[in-house]
Amino acid sequence: MNGTVSKDEFKLFRDLIYRKAGIRLKDSREFLVANRLRKRMDAHGLSCYYQYYNLLTRAPDGRNEMQKFIDALTTNETYFFRHPEHFNRLTDILIPDILKGKPAGSAVRIWSAACASGEEAYSIAIQVREHRHSSAPGVCEILGSDINLEMIEKAGAASYNAYATSRMQSDLLDRYFIRELDHEVYHLGQNIRKMVRFYQANLLDPFPFGPFDVIFCRNVLIYFDQETRDRVISNLHRSLKPGGYLFTGYAESLVNSGHPFRYLKPTLYQKSEETATVVRHGQTRRSLVEAG
Ligand SMILES: C[S@@+](CC[C@H](N)C(=O)[O-])C[C@H]1O[C@@H](n2cnc3c(N)ncnc32)[C@H](O)[C@@H]1O
Repeated sequence: MNGTVSKDEFKLFRDLIYRKAGIRLKDSREFLVANRLRKRMDAHGLSCYYQYYNLLTRAPDGRNEMQKFIDALTTNETYFFRHPEHFNRLTDILIPDILKGKPAGSAVRIWSAACASGEEAYSIAIQVREHRHSSAPGVCEILGSDINLEMIEKAGAASYNAYATSRMQSDLLDRYFIRELDHEVYHLGQNIRKMVRFYQANLLDPFPFGPFDVIFCRNVLIYFDQETRDRVISNLHRSLKPGGYLFTGYAESLVNSGHPFRYLKPTLYQKSEETATVVRHGQTRRSLVEAG
């Protein structure tokens, strides 16, 4: 089989993944595309990339294969407690503040958008469980989503390798995981697994389970061009409650995005309260966050 993809073939796949997932593939990704799609072609016994493209764009077989195509071309790098300061800020400052403004019994709703194989969503759950303000059952409701179905299935299975857990504090690892010594596999305990629900969802579309108090949307906007980023940010804005918080990755900025978010500090934004700023103990919610 021809192992390289021609320029014209590459353009077909590049445009298709852009239309479906908003992902902008650079020309330098030709080799990666050729490699990843070759596995899908093998699965169908196809020998050329044009045949695979035809399969993808032909109903009804294409509809089934389209998800595998998207799964093959997304980059799912993640690990537990990536950017740990975000998780600390969540439980030390944001959750206590959000809880003060909530009626008793209503949960703090948190969405890990583009959670890949679930490490980010489960890190939130572990962090929440560890913290005195939020550890009681029902205080926080956590959802994770990703466009990649294979990753969402992996998140549901909640078994991880040594890389995924390598940056975790060892006491947390001991407390929340069961380790299979022979295989270096770490199984997350049921107490944390049951705190998170996972969904397959595309950030290009409105997410139907909002609104949320906090959204983590980290290390995914970098794969989009400005037009797609604007569309996604607009969806995220709609999914947040007034005064809700958005975490992004360090290479991602909402400054100049034209959306009504207030910049609080690098990687942290707040949806404006619109009508009212909550005043408590002489401090506004804004000043509480900035003080932290
Ligand atoms: C690099 S991972 C980031 C994972 C995690 N947020 C973190 O920071 O560790 C990027 C994730 O974005 C997902 N993704 C890419 N395009 C998407 C889209 N249009 N909708 C939802 N998820 C998408 C990919 O499948 C991938 O799992």
